[in-house]
Amino acid sequence: MSCSTMPQLGTSSVDEVISQMTNEEKAKLLVGTGMAGREENTDEAIVGEARGIVPGAGAVTYPIERLGISTMVLGDGPAGLRISPTRENDTATYYCTHFPIGTTLASTWNQELVEQVGKCIGNEVLEYGVDVLLAPALNIHRNPLCGRNFEYYSEDPLVSGKIAAAYVKGVQSNGVGTSIKHFAANSQETNRKNNNAIISERALREIYLKGFEIAVKEAKPWTVMSSYNYINGVYASENEWLLTEVLRDEWGFDGAVMTDWFGGLDVVAQMNAGNDMIEPGSNKQLRELTAAIDSGKVSMEVIDRNVERVLELIMKTPRFKRYQYDNKPDLKAHALVTRQSATEGMVLLKNEKEALPLAEGTKNIALFGCTSYDFIAGGTGSGDVHHAYVVSLLEGLENAGYTVDASMEKKYETYLKAEKARLDSLKQSSTDPMAAYLPVERPSEMQFSPAELQSLVASNDVALITLGRSSGEFADRTQADFNLSQKERNLIDGVCRVFHAAGKKVVIVLNISGVIETQSWKDKPDAILCSWMGGQEGGNSVADILSGKANPSGKLTMTFPISLQDHLSTANFPVDAKPMVQLGPQSGKHSDEPNIGITRYEEGIYVGYRHFDTHKVPVSYPFGYGLSYTTFTYENMKVKAEGNSYVVTLDVTNTGKVAGKEVVQLYVKAPLGVVKDKPEKELRAFTKTQTLDPGQKITVRLTVPKQDLASFDEGTQKWVVEKGDYEFMTGASSQDIRRSVVVTM
Ligand code: BGC
Repeated sequence: MSCSTMPQLGTSSVDEVISQMTNEEKAKLLVGTGMAGREENTDEAIVGEARGIVPGAGAVTYPIERLGISTMVLGDGPAGLRISPTRENDTATYYCTHFPIGTTLASTWNQELVEQVGKCIGNEVLEYGVDVLLAPALNIHRNPLCGRNFEYYSEDPLVSGKIAAAYVKGVQSNGVGTSIKHFAANSQETNRKNNNAIISERALREIYLKGFEIAVKEAKPWTVMSSYNYINGVYASENEWLLTEVLRDEWGFDGAVMTDWFGGLDVVAQMNAGNDMIEPGSNKQLRELTAAIDSGKVSMEVIDRNVERVLELIMKTPRFKRYQYDNKPDLKAHALVTRQSATEGMVLLKNEKEALPLAEGTKNIALFGCTSYDFIAGGTGSGDVHHAYVVSLLEGLENAGYTVDASMEKKYETYLKAEKARLDSLKQSSTDPMAAYLPVERPSEMQFSPAELQSLVASNDVALITLGRSSGEFADRTQADFNLSQKERNLIDGVCRVFHAAGKKVVIVLNISGVIETQSWKDKPDAILCSWMGGQEGGNSVADILSGKANPSGKLTMTFPISLQDHLSTANFPVDAKPMVQLGPQSGKHSDEPNIGITRYEEGIYVGYRHFDTHKVPVSYPFGYGLSYTTFTYENMKVKAEGNSYVVTLDVTNTGKVAGKEVVQLYVKAPLGVVKDKPEKELRAFTKTQTLDPGQKITVRLTVPKQDLASFDEGTQKWVVEKGDYEFMTGASSQDIRRSVVVTM
């Protein structure tokens, strides 16, 4: 057949196209084109050209021109597109907007807002010529120390699933794809490519898979990324039960599955399991797959099935449709969206005697904490974004019209320069091969003498202190990172003592990637704002809240425990383990070392508030908690059965003096029966109100399908909705239940 009579993807049927593909072409389509300088690569021209389309993107698939199969560009990630901001011999720049991290987005509890953020991210994906975004990431916050929690949403699967679904809908509305990741149970970074997660099927179904199930069913992501870890002895990417039985047969997923980068070991097992794309692919994997196809070690039926899924995916992409992208997304408009969404995800943890918003007339601010001057936009690794700028808290406050003490600004500038040089040289002299990949250590806090503080209190109206924490891929956080350092404690103590003695207030801002210890010091400052990481406009977003321009309405999507040890999972987590060498192709060496080689999820379903509330373990701040500058009452709760669902209605009234939004949470306590132990309560629905003016009342409506009240019974391997009494509870947090109604089923 000559080229002109060759079937062409898009005009001929997929079957016809597949029928003309050689074994080698099939293997090349299924195994990505590798990262850099692939050994023995005979197609350097083709691959090099594809890779050059969007420099800095995660991977490209192999184009087969004679059959009209275009390449596909895949790019990270959750907080915005991650590509190289500059290119050789090109004066243009390709910066992307750094949006808030996943945890901040989830803390908005606002699905519409997250969808809007997704729309903007997807627009950058489209206009920069990328086809599939490697996001969102929705693994469960099993333990506060997981290094990538910042990319993830919550300790609760409903929040994770709903926020992910909103994100996917927003991104995909641009006609580009998403890859929901990391499927599944990628709860630790330590030895992530070799760790075997031992999890009961109930915990998998109810906690670790549930969010993915919601996202798949509600938003139809184009692709799913399998995770690095083993699940009960089988690599996620080689796990047929996970990728075919559960994902496709049960949930109806009809897209393609790709590996995480260099994940898994056995290409044949991956193909059989339904892991269609091996990313980014290596020559070794390509050789192995080609040989397996040639020898029949993997059936042609399986290969054609997977090839078909990849071709169906390619046909959806903008590149296949010859979309003319312009490399000019509206970064200015997106900056406004990120500023507002970050504000809405910030959580006011404490606000005594209305310390916030800053009183009218507040002008001069004593700004403490290195992070105030060097705000952190997001975490490190593939969740990072090459942003054009980051607004620090200093700049945000100045933009809002405040005056930051000039002597402090100068002092911090000099100090930070020296600290950064010290930390850089530490990193460079490190013999740890992982050093280059690990998050840069935070500068230690500058200390102030009592005399210095006395002079600062005299010339300033209020003190602000920012505490910073960053984390990222390849390593989990440590206990030292969870706890405050002695220098941080000294700073808080000293500033609070001197400012309080002068009748002035102290506000603490937490620019953090994950949960930290708060119980031991939270009584000291007047207000605490957990700003998380707000992306490139972070300082402006915080200033909007401090000044009262915005009323905080974020709530925690995870618990702040009193101590790390209060989490059941801490007993089986690699606490303070050394980051392992885990780059490069799979070593295949498995260790049995607890929490390194094998992590036993002994806590089962008792993750986060399911544990704290059921076992009555006191916490510092509960799941779902967050203050506002106004107050809300919950009245007139009713529950009605409508078809296969329960519909809850509730009147919410703004009883304070300023406009605000409220996150209303619906928890249900289900009766025991076939399943003999259940949590005290589980989140079954939530909503965020529109902005309510003072005195304004609205009726919110929450719908819970009856099936969603089920627990998973290991015995029969089925979801069971028991007969009996169900307590429906509406609350402002998991521990602030305002109304409840019992329904008998
Ligand atoms: C991460 C993925 C990411 C991929 C591509 C991996 O190290 O785990 O989340 O999408 O790299 O950058």
